[in-house]
Amino acid sequence: MLIHEDCLSAMKRLSDNSVDMVYMDPPFFTQKTHTLSNASGIRYEFSDVWNSREEYLKFIKERLIECKRVMNAKASIFLHCDTAASHHLRVLLDDVFGESNFRSEIIWTYKRWSNSKKGLLPGHQTIFFYSKTKDYIFNTFYGDYSPTTNLDQILQARERDARGKAKYKYDSNGSIVLGKEKKGVPLSDVWEIPFLNPKAKERTGYPTQKPIELLEKIIKISTSEGATVLDPFCGSGTTLVAAHLLNRRYIGIDINPDAITLSEKRLEMPFKTESTLLKVGSGAYQTKSQRELSILQQFDCDIVQRNKGIDAFLKKYYLGKPVALRIQKEHESFEDALALLSNAGKKKGCSFLVLITQHLTPYMQNILPDNMIVLPSLECVLNDEIEQQLGNL
Ligand SMILES: C[S@@+](CC[C@H](N)C(=O)[O-])C[C@H]1O[C@@H](n2cnc3c(N)ncnc32)[C@H](O)[C@@H]1O
Repeated sequence: MLIHEDCLSAMKRLSDNSVDMVYMDPPFFTQKTHTLSNASGIRYEFSDVWNSREEYLKFIKERLIECKRVMNAKASIFLHCDTAASHHLRVLLDDVFGESNFRSEIIWTYKRWSNSKKGLLPGHQTIFFYSKTKDYIFNTFYGDYSPTTNLDQILQARERDARGKAKYKYDSNGSIVLGKEKKGVPLSDVWEIPFLNPKAKERTGYPTQKPIELLEKIIKISTSEGATVLDPFCGSGTTLVAAHLLNRRYIGIDINPDAITLSEKRLEMPFKTESTLLKVGSGAYQTKSQRELSILQQFDCDIVQRNKGIDAFLKKYYLGKPVALRIQKEHESFEDALALLSNAGKKKGCSFLVLITQHLTPYMQNILPDNMIVLPSLECVLNDEIEQQLGNL
């Protein structure tokens, strides 16, 4: 069900105890109007400008009270917010749902690429998880052990010593006692899920659109198939698409008619963009060999993955432009390495290029372009060396 209306009046028409879960992603009290366009130039906009914080908190509280009424006894609510008002919203949630029904503060964390901000770069948003009663639905999911977990921690049983401290258990012969079969590590309250990248097919152009991956996780831990999920601020319809993909029913409400039209359209062909980063893990992006890494780590540089011609960029620019590095690969001719670096460097607007090779001959020196230097051996790959050589060019 999709409803174009203020969610307060729309929820008043829903019956008591009629929904199994609420995900609420309201305006965050940013005091901004959020605007964005999609690839076809359609502009979406919603306002998050308030006369006062009191006005904002009253708006949210009225709606939380309605959410609670329509939630059944086993239902949970997830309130998505950020540092603009999270500290106030937590207090509101305690008021409406009771402190004892606080379940978790989920931190959704993601990588951002920006260096323009003074201070710490914001890299997370908060999702408060409350239930209506203590008898709420919760499906536990397990993840892998961290690389630092040792075999004993996984296999061996534990017991408490006289002072209540956990220790490994041994039998009377001093042999280890095996613990119960373990399923892995229960899902933590910190979720690393990438933001939708600008080219992701899933991206609709709606401002503040959340990834389906995030909503799937929330829906999976808190509901069973056939459950009814309510999103009173549905925006582009992310929750509804996730609910549909997981065989749940949904009620989406938004005051913005464009949000409802967009949600309808998304629901005609619901899909999610698979995140390669999540599927294969960040390690899969690490394409450099140990040898290459140990060479590159001698420079003050940013290592580049997934580029055919460039292995790294020096952090320091020369003549206002980047300097690219490439290590000649073991089964690559000098000419090929040179061509790959030259082409990639041209595309990226580099001022200088540095090619690292183990066997430097006079012939190689002769065929170098003007803006390239060659470092002949691993011992001399130091920034000072490069700076000196660049200075000579
Ligand atoms: C943060 S966005 C939601 C984004 C959404 N989760 C998504 O993934 O696209 C907040 C939404 O709340 C809507 N909204 C603001 N006030 C509302 C109200 N009183 N009733 C219903 N929707 C409202 C806005 O139009 C906007 O679409």
